[in-house]
Amino acid sequence: MLFKTFSTATAALLLAAEPASALGGSRNAVLPKRQYARTVDTSAPAVEAARNVKRQYFPANATDVKTFTTPTNVTIRYKEPGAAGVCETTPGVNSYAGYIDLAPNVHTFFWFFESRSNPSSDPLTLWLNGGPGSDSLIGLFQELGPCRITENLTSVLNPYSWSNSSNLLFLSQPVGVGFSYQEEAIGSLNPETGGFLNTSQANATGRYPILDPVDIGTIDTTDLAAMAAWHILQGFLSGAETLGAELGDSKTFNLWTESYGGHYGPAFYNYFYDQNQKILNSTMPGYALHFDTLGIGNGIIDESIQAPYYPDFAMNNTYGIKAYNDTVYNYAVFANNMIGGCQNQIEECRAAAAGFNGGLINNGYTYTAAATSNPSFQTLCSEAQDMCRDNVEGVYYSYGERGAYDIRHPYDDPTPPSYFVDYLNTAYVQNALGVNLNYTDANDDVYFAFQATGDFIYSNFIEDLEMILDRGIRVSLYYGDADYICNWFGGQAISLAVNYTHSAEFAAAGYQPLVYGGVEYGEVRQYGNFSFTRVYESGHEVPYYQPQGALAVFNRTINHVNVADGTVPVTANLTSTGPLNATHTESYVSLPPTNSASLAAWSSSVIASYSSLDNLPPPTTAASYQA
Ligand SMILES: *[C@@H]1O[C@H](CO)[C@@H](O)[C@H](O)[C@H]1NC(C)=O
Ligand SMILES: *[C@@H]1O[C@H](CO)[C@@H](O)[C@H](O)[C@H]1NC(C)=O
Ligand SMILES: *[C@@H]1O[C@H](CO)[C@@H](O)[C@H](O)[C@H]1NC(C)=O
Ligand SMILES: *[C@@H]1O[C@H](CO)[C@@H](O)[C@H](O)[C@H]1NC(C)=O
Ligand SMILES: *[C@@H]1O[C@H](CO)[C@@H](O)[C@H](O)[C@H]1NC(C)=O
Ligand SMILES: *[C@@H]1O[C@H](CO)[C@@H](O)[C@H](O)[C@H]1NC(C)=O
Ligand SMILES: *[C@@H]1O[C@H](CO)[C@@H](O)[C@H](O)[C@H]1NC(C)=O
Ligand SMILES: *[C@@H]1O[C@H](CO)[C@@H](O)[C@H](O)[C@H]1NC(C)=O
Ligand SMILES: *[C@@H]1O[C@H](CO)[C@@H](O)[C@H](O)[C@H]1NC(C)=O
Ligand SMILES: *[C@@H]1O[C@H](CO)[C@@H](O)[C@H](O)[C@H]1NC(C)=O
Ligand SMILES: *[C@@H]1O[C@H](CO)[C@@H](O)[C@H](O)[C@H]1NC(C)=O
Ligand SMILES: *[C@@H]1O[C@H](CO)[C@@H](O)[C@H](O)[C@H]1NC(C)=O
Repeated sequence: MLFKTFSTATAALLLAAEPASALGGSRNAVLPKRQYARTVDTSAPAVEAARNVKRQYFPANATDVKTFTTPTNVTIRYKEPGAAGVCETTPGVNSYAGYIDLAPNVHTFFWFFESRSNPSSDPLTLWLNGGPGSDSLIGLFQELGPCRITENLTSVLNPYSWSNSSNLLFLSQPVGVGFSYQEEAIGSLNPETGGFLNTSQANATGRYPILDPVDIGTIDTTDLAAMAAWHILQGFLSGAETLGAELGDSKTFNLWTESYGGHYGPAFYNYFYDQNQKILNSTMPGYALHFDTLGIGNGIIDESIQAPYYPDFAMNNTYGIKAYNDTVYNYAVFANNMIGGCQNQIEECRAAAAGFNGGLINNGYTYTAAATSNPSFQTLCSEAQDMCRDNVEGVYYSYGERGAYDIRHPYDDPTPPSYFVDYLNTAYVQNALGVNLNYTDANDDVYFAFQATGDFIYSNFIEDLEMILDRGIRVSLYYGDADYICNWFGGQAISLAVNYTHSAEFAAAGYQPLVYGGVEYGEVRQYGNFSFTRVYESGHEVPYYQPQGALAVFNRTINHVNVADGTVPVTANLTSTGPLNATHTESYVSLPPTNSASLAAWSSSVIASYSSLDNLPPPTTAASYQA
């Protein structure tokens, strides 16, 4: 973990961090850069709204924002959106949203929800989406948060919110993502790249966050993002009491994350853990937490281990789908293994790291700051990323017709719907959240900054996971089995490659059904604190596709009971039992017809069927429901 030794790190140090280098090299033209394509709403109210949009383009400053400075001189500006009917409207359950101002050009958007059960004794869970550059409000609205947004932009409660059993904190990070900003500017977004355009480049459509133009403070690696997030979390903790937020007396802390969170989760958790140890032993001031669990859903943790499973999954998944023909399959496999191919270039990235002063440390995974801040190292790793993503992973996007995030769906996947993006672009909601910005769910400038450093390829994240497990933390990996982009074959390979004290016992544990309310949602391998769950019939965002199954994995993990059925307390030698392979198969799913009317009808019915999952009776009475 690079930068970990800078124990006296401050926001100022962050701001002085190495700027993203403007590197050459190919860009990922073929990859779906924006995870969540927006559909054009042609309904009468939307057209009417569009007519009026001129005078409403630029969000006004929010009214009645409360501001205070915490004991550590962090400014917090906030409102209580639940009181305005935005999202969590359960009586007596408080929520707070606004900004943590760490420095004059670091303004991080947060949204905190009290637990619906017992906020003072329930733990604190930080949720982070991936990208890099994807906003955590994706998870809030589409996955595990207290509400979902319907097609007519109404907020409805999610009965399977993870706030049923935990306090939840969502952060838009790194700075520049979602409503977080360094600076704000009137402008528009490049329809091709998603990057910000100023008023001399294109007509303005709104007010957006921009990264600092003088190249300072740009966060372009996971390790820098970890440092920033720790300061933000500390800023939040320093203000929580004044805010009135109940955090739980035990200050028990969980980090749950997804997708590129396979990088964020292990690195952030390990960095946070070390910082926390320094607070506990009084070598550093700060607000201490009790570190408990780490969860990763459909994560990209180590490209070297996961890359071979792209062609494997495209051809040999449990739905009997062959996403492309043998010619393309053989190309992807060859591109992975050939001289100068994906694996070879990852090795070169690592070998280059070893060549710098201090080079690679520990087991040959951890890159030093000297290596990662060197432009030639960044070029090699960035090139490796492009090789792997374009050729091993990306042929599926070019030659397959199926969804990146759900192999059962077409390339233009209507699930999960992005109504929340439009909701967050209404003046009423902006005011209720205390923001004066237009909303985008993915910041492509941040994505490209990370791409240029080659962060995707760095291989220290599995080592972080090993250290976390050896520190006695509970780790749950869970993967929806229809996702291609971070598929469960690769996730399973990660779970077996993690080299920690109990690797052998973990590998010997059998797959046991994951059962909740009488329904089997997947199969799980668990030994002691570590579990890997394959979730059936689920795309990338598991809590959207399987809200009950996902809540079961989360709630059982944080409550220290076995993931399979929640009946056995976790002990050091708790072992799941069953076959060594997760062999369940699903029936083949054909693609819908491509003419627009049929496709629209199919999309509506698919969305309706997922929406209906949220209306199911509570799991205890749902035994007859067949997933
Ligand atoms: C920006 O927000 C305003 C509301 O304050 C809205 O009228 C406008 O349509 C939004 N712009 C975009 C591009 O979504
Ligand atoms: C809105 O807030 C910004 C600071 O965020 C301030 O500079 C600006 O003057 C405000 N505009 C109005 C119209 O109050
Ligand atoms: C608190 O922060 C403000 C603005 O960042 C700065 O001007 C001020 O000097 C700080 N005060 C202390 C006591 O550090
Ligand atoms: C919007 O959708 C919600 C939930 O589906 C429904 O209860 C409500 O009546 C709808 N409102 C309008 C104006 O259509
Ligand atoms: C802005 O819009 C006007 C028409 O409303 C058009 O003539 C002009 O070219 C646009 N400017 C830019 C920079 O796109
Ligand atoms: C405090 O904890 C840190 C992090 O674990 C460790 O590096 C340091 O040596 C400890 N210091 C003391 C005085 O125990
Ligand atoms: C597909 O996987 C099955 C077991 O899951 C294995 O027996 C078979 O050899 C695999 N086929 C290919 C083409 O990899
Ligand atoms: C396989 O698919 C590729 C891409 O569509 C195509 O160019 C090629 O001709 C196909 N090969 C065979 C043997 O069908
Ligand atoms: C696992 O780690 C141990 C101790 O560092 C090492 O001796 C062993 O070779 C590693 N095993 C693998 C498969 O990497
Ligand atoms: C979470 O787990 C606890 C302990 O097993 C249980 O009492 C509680 O009902 C569960 N909550 C939900 C929402 O499933
Ligand atoms: C776990 O360890 C305890 C005590 O060390 C022992 O009694 C128990 O049988 C073990 N369970 C398994 C499944 O090995
Ligand atoms: C069973 O799983 C192991 C990994 O645990 C894998 O190496 C092996 O190929 C699998 N066997 C089959 C038949 O799928």
